Amino acid sequence: MKLRASKHSSSLKLKPKLGLVAATFFCFFFFFIAGFLFSSFLSQDAPVLRHRQRVLESVNDDAAVMPDRESGDDSFTSIPYQVLSWAPRALYFPNFAPAEHCQSIIAMAKFGLKPSTLALRNGETAENTKGIRTSSGVFISASEDKTGILDIVEEKIARVTMLPRTHGEAFNVLRYEVGQRYNSHYDAFSPAEYGPQKSQRVASFLLYLTDVEEGGETMFPFENGSNMDGSYDFRQCVGLKVKPRRGDGLLFYSLFPNGTIDPTSLHGSCPVISGEKWVATKWIRDQEQDE
Ligand SMILES: *[C@@H]1O[C@H](CO)[C@@H](O)[C@H](O)[C@H]1NC(C)=O
Ligand SMILES: *[C@@H]1O[C@H](CO)[C@@H](O)[C@H](O)[C@H]1NC(C)=O
Repeated sequence: MKLRASKHSSSLKLKPKLGLVAATFFCFFFFFIAGFLFSSFLSQDAPVLRHRQRVLESVNDDAAVMPDRESGDDSFTSIPYQVLSWAPRALYFPNFAPAEHCQSIIAMAKFGLKPSTLALRNGETAENTKGIRTSSGVFISASEDKTGILDIVEEKIARVTMLPRTHGEAFNVLRYEVGQRYNSHYDAFSPAEYGPQKSQRVASFLLYLTDVEEGGETMFPFENGSNMDGSYDFRQCVGLKVKPRRGDGLLFYSLFPNGTIDPTSLHGSCPVISGEKWVATKWIRDQEQDE
């Protein structure tokens, strides 16, 4: 750019009038390009990344729907999500379910609530694990819900995970009142601690049914390898924290693609400080589940 501009300006001397117009034009052009480059240099996001994102977004623009599907859709779908983290692999889905659906799920769960339980390791008892998980909850399967709402939610979860509905456990609808929490834990069961497993939890999808005024975040203390030096206290509320918002979804994978447990998928629920937290959890396994 610079080279060409100076070439031109040397020939300008021969034709002053035309030269002036051309010089003005090239100055203008030069400053425009310089300004553009400078502003993209100033903005913090990497231009390469933004470019790549645009390429991904534009895939749909003029593509034609593929014909002859056996079990797929006959149209394109757009479900917005944000990659929250690669360690753990966690995705955030804003407005995954409408507020009315969240209300209905709470209404159907309300009367069946019981104190939540834990899968116990060798040597653990209900008594000596008291305080680790203090919420109340109830299991409801989509087929039990006559309103059809859980059916819609379950279908959508299957679509975004591409893990068939038959691999999901029933929804576990949970309520956390002020002070209630769930210390950090894995959803997957390490055979070393829990003995041989018939099937393993691959992924967890959390649908937040309420906003929480304060506290109640879902936390991943080992995000990106932090706090993993052995000093972490499992009650501590640190690392990646996701604030519950009614209707939003959070998906994370407990297993690596090779089937071993991702240590950064450790997570918990920070104590609710103010308000009430309701969440519908769907655990998805590597084997089909009996109804
Ligand atoms: C994630 O971890 C890597 C390697 O330990 C480190 O270089 C990087 O800065 C971390 N990123 C963040 C956002 O903490
Ligand atoms: C499984 O995958 C993880 C992450 O890529 C890797 O760190 C680990 O070594 C793998 N384990 C086995 C047994 O292949």
